[in-house]
Amino acid sequence: MLIHSASQLLTLAGGPQRGPDLGRLEIIPDGAALIRDEKILVVGPSRELLAAYPDEPLLDAGGKVVMPGFVDPHTHAIFAGDRSAEFEQRLQGKTYLEILAEGGGILSTVRATRTASLEKIVNETRSRLWSMFSYGTTTAEVKTGYGLRTATELRMLQALLALDKEGPLEIAPTFMGAHAIAPEYRGRPQEYTDFVCSTMLPVLRQWWPHNAPYHEMPFVDVFCETGAFSLDQSRSIFSAAKDMGFPLKIHADEFDNLGGARLAVEFGAVSADHLVKTSPGDISILANSDTVAVALPCTPFGLAEAHYTPAQAILQAGGLLAIATDLNPGTAWCESMQFALALACRYMRLTPAQAIAAATINSAAAIQRADRVGSLEPGKQADLLILSVPDYRHLGYRFGINLVQTVIKRGRIYPN
Ligand code: NIG
Ligand code: FE
Repeated sequence: MLIHSASQLLTLAGGPQRGPDLGRLEIIPDGAALIRDEKILVVGPSRELLAAYPDEPLLDAGGKVVMPGFVDPHTHAIFAGDRSAEFEQRLQGKTYLEILAEGGGILSTVRATRTASLEKIVNETRSRLWSMFSYGTTTAEVKTGYGLRTATELRMLQALLALDKEGPLEIAPTFMGAHAIAPEYRGRPQEYTDFVCSTMLPVLRQWWPHNAPYHEMPFVDVFCETGAFSLDQSRSIFSAAKDMGFPLKIHADEFDNLGGARLAVEFGAVSADHLVKTSPGDISILANSDTVAVALPCTPFGLAEAHYTPAQAILQAGGLLAIATDLNPGTAWCESMQFALALACRYMRLTPAQAIAAATINSAAAIQRADRVGSLEPGKQADLLILSVPDYRHLGYRFGINLVQTVIKRGRIYPN
């Protein structure tokens, strides 16, 4: 199939974009992309490709932007129920961490997830994944973390593997048994931490090759935060997970700076996420490492908080910046990467070009998939979007509607 006549074909070629380099879209005007066997064979000017491949079935993208599918590198998309009542409480003045300390927040979704049937969880998650897909996300990381019991956490992973196989949205799974202190361990965070390290992770290590033989290892993520896991507890979990060969991620500096970003660098974590309260010193350590800084602008927006990830400081220090939705029922129930980009442009002062690179090639790097997705280059997966607009700057500029007209996943066309 030959997609042709795009007003702008954004290739994002050349790998992840660090620091001031962020925003290189590598645009081909009047561009075309040839797709064969689920992959991109060649990209170039329409005139050249139409002449070179005259017998190819055509898809006319006349006057429209063609770009790589979004990669959403941080979501909690698998859960049951909702927290609309807590949203109302927060509007009336309660804080997120107060609600968590009272046994609500993440723990209320844990109760809903533990008691729901697997069928209900899978059905609700599937519809969220389709919504993400229609808004242009072709690959997403999804975390467990609403089970907090070995069996429930594994059931969530099993469900994610099944949903990934079903497609079309491709899933990179993350184990997040350390999302909150399990209710059975209330007031005993160290004991729960020990349980994660000495039981959950070793069981997962055994379980994974039997249940996901063709998958790379899942990420292991920790919520390093007041009221969740301390720096020392996060360190123990990282240390155990790393010894078992799991790639690492961390929720760091969302509400308080406990030193999670530095810990991520020390352990060579793939990404450190949130980074709202990160100190200038920690930004410089992070920016000088290969750990990707993942900003989640829907979260401060969802919590109606004033501070966002200091993206400019991260870029000036030479960091690798990515953007994600953080889709979850508590702080940010948002399936749309387009909306995350609109917020990133306004509150993190990214240009649309920077936001697009942060949401494609760099977010692919944040889940170790930059070799397969995140750009339109020969040999990469044919995951593309056709937008209903003539100029890429409509992304970020416009919000609250869907600018994606067609999603193409591994060469298959899904019109919106
Ligand atoms: O990334 N902060 C921890 N985890 C999520 C929120 C999860 C929830 O509230 O259910 C986050 O914001
Ligand atoms: Fe999160």
